[in-house]
Amino acid sequence: MAITRLLRFIQLLPRVPPDGEFHLKDLPGSGGRVDILCRELAACFDWAPEKWPRNNIQLIAMISNEVVLTFNNPGQDMPIGERAWAETIRKSLKGEAPSFVTRTESTLDELTGSLIDMPENRLCILDEGGVPLSEMDIAGCSTQNSFMLGDHLGFDSVAQLVIREFDLPRVSLGATSYLSSHCIANVISAFEKES
Ligand SMILES: C[S@@+](CC[C@H](N)C(=O)[O-])C[C@H]1O[C@@H](n2cnc3c(N)ncnc32)[C@H](O)[C@@H]1O
Repeated sequence: MAITRLLRFIQLLPRVPPDGEFHLKDLPGSGGRVDILCRELAACFDWAPEKWPRNNIQLIAMISNEVVLTFNNPGQDMPIGERAWAETIRKSLKGEAPSFVTRTESTLDELTGSLIDMPENRLCILDEGGVPLSEMDIAGCSTQNSFMLGDHLGFDSVAQLVIREFDLPRVSLGATSYLSSHCIANVISAFEKES
């Protein structure tokens, strides 16, 4: 049966310079942990999906509570490796986005509100302390399922406020804190098994 549902991941990156001014040789430091996003993009569009169509995956990066980059399947234009993804992110932040990336200006509060307003979209927070993903009714899930992730420090005060304001449910992949890219792979795999 063809999969028509969308899996969407929203990575919060409050420390990434929104003007794209970071050094390609220092992504964790000058890039404010933009390396997290590079690895997630490779997971979403390269190595993680086995059955799930890459066209049915979207990754949104919320940068410093002011810029939103939305990534869709790059297909043949796939950047290969962390540095190539970092160059794509930097160009996109500087207003030179390729066709598979959209740059908009928005706050986390506005972005969350627009996701909540989308019909057939369920939005959850990925959090170690949440309800186990295995208890989620994946087969009976919405047409669009969106999962929000924190950075290496978890969720900052802006994110905590938004999570409370919209009363977003928390979903857990277990008590261990995993790399964000592995959380994404885990969710894709769970949806593949149930679809
Ligand atoms: C590297 S982890 C965050 C780091 C960790 N919370 C800490 O104290 O350093 C990045 C994000 O991945 C997600 N995450 C990591 N492990 C998870 C798990 N076991 N269940 C659900 N989400 C998880 C969360 O959204 C988290 O904010």
